[in-house]
Amino acid sequence: MTDQRAWSIVETSAFDPIARVSPHGRLKDLREQCPVHRDEPVKTWFLTRYGDVREIVNDRSLWRHGSRSEEGALLRRIDRDDEGERIDSILTLDEPDHSRVRLPLAKAFYARINAMKPQIEAIIDKVIDEAPADRPFDLIADLAIPIPILVIAAILGVEEQRFREFRDWSEASILGLNPLRTPEETARMEWGSAKLTDYFTELMAARRAAPKDDLISDMVALQAGGAPLSDGEIRVNLSALLIGGNLTTTDLIGNGVWLLLNHPQELAKLKADPSLAAAAVEEILRYDSPVAITNRVISDEREVGGCPMHPHQSVIASLHAANRDPEVFEDPDRFDITRKHAPHVAFGGGSHICIGAPLARIEAKQALVRLFDRFPDLHLAGEEPTWRALPFFRGMEALVVAG
Ligand code: HEM
Repeated sequence: MTDQRAWSIVETSAFDPIARVSPHGRLKDLREQCPVHRDEPVKTWFLTRYGDVREIVNDRSLWRHGSRSEEGALLRRIDRDDEGERIDSILTLDEPDHSRVRLPLAKAFYARINAMKPQIEAIIDKVIDEAPADRPFDLIADLAIPIPILVIAAILGVEEQRFREFRDWSEASILGLNPLRTPEETARMEWGSAKLTDYFTELMAARRAAPKDDLISDMVALQAGGAPLSDGEIRVNLSALLIGGNLTTTDLIGNGVWLLLNHPQELAKLKADPSLAAAAVEEILRYDSPVAITNRVISDEREVGGCPMHPHQSVIASLHAANRDPEVFEDPDRFDITRKHAPHVAFGGGSHICIGAPLARIEAKQALVRLFDRFPDLHLAGEEPTWRALPFFRGMEALVVAG
């Protein structure tokens, strides 16, 4: 350890100015010297070895809901902020409710993604075709932010004339991902969430009266056909798709372009053989994933990595650290899109594994292929990017490029 004590969880997160630029040095210190680390001030275990992270995320008997964790635990505070009369999304539901809600939602969502794949790809192509060829542009603001919002809007069935408002509400409610947000940001988040709730209520009523070809119609039809889902649960989980999918996909595209432009040999391989795009997306997810951590709550007496853990103790698994573990990935700090086996944990695992993974993969793959097809000479055209200070996520504020 470089400074004789284990790094705290926050010191490995984007909230810290050094870890924001790169968390990997500190995560390596922890993985080598204190892989099962008890961060006592925030009453949380922090795991950095691939094997321990896999074991914890895959274990379906553990809890997810922060309210089950002990007083003072870091992620318990997020749930506190939102207390009141509230329906949880699948993100924090425990069994049996998690399966009851996730199974019909996932079935409808995956059928919709499959049916709409050509439309999703066309949306992405259009955004990229509209990027300027005659001057530098911000890849984040001009491409990586609009792509996932436009795609999820089409999947859900948002009307085109409401699109501007929908984007404002979505961006406001995403502030909820920041456990360290200011009171002003909390107020904006509450405004965005309330607007989305009203809008989804309106859309559900409209689709019951006249179904369309969209996910909101699918969900109200499932409910009418007997799926045990309340209106509130449908609304909250459609919002979860929106919030869970926007910033993450933005960052997957942004981090991917940044990595490829900084690794010209890898970019050359991709340009020479665009069928490598799917493998490139997996390597981007392994190397610099948009989501740094996930969490679980211990439900029974057990040992993890030789350390005794007790019920209600909170565990944060570092997906970033696991994905650079040399026990599993040869030469883990090398970015290599032709890496053979890449069983990364960027999407977590077990029953809570990211429901949006198939969509994220489609979007990132199409964005990379189309971008380097339209701009074969794409290059960096601005200052070093600023990494966002949002803890537990990894992405850039802006990335100026030119074709
Ligand atoms: C782009 C890259 C993305 C990454 C890296 C990512 C990562 C993750 C991770 C790590 C989890 C927690 C898994 C666990 O605890 O085991 C998760 C859950 C989730 N993600 Fe994603 N995600 C991405 C995209 C998306 C998209 C596109 C959507 C929706 C359209 C989405 C919606 C969700 C939802 C709803 C959950 C909660 C699932 C559950 O708890 O059952 N994500 N994601």
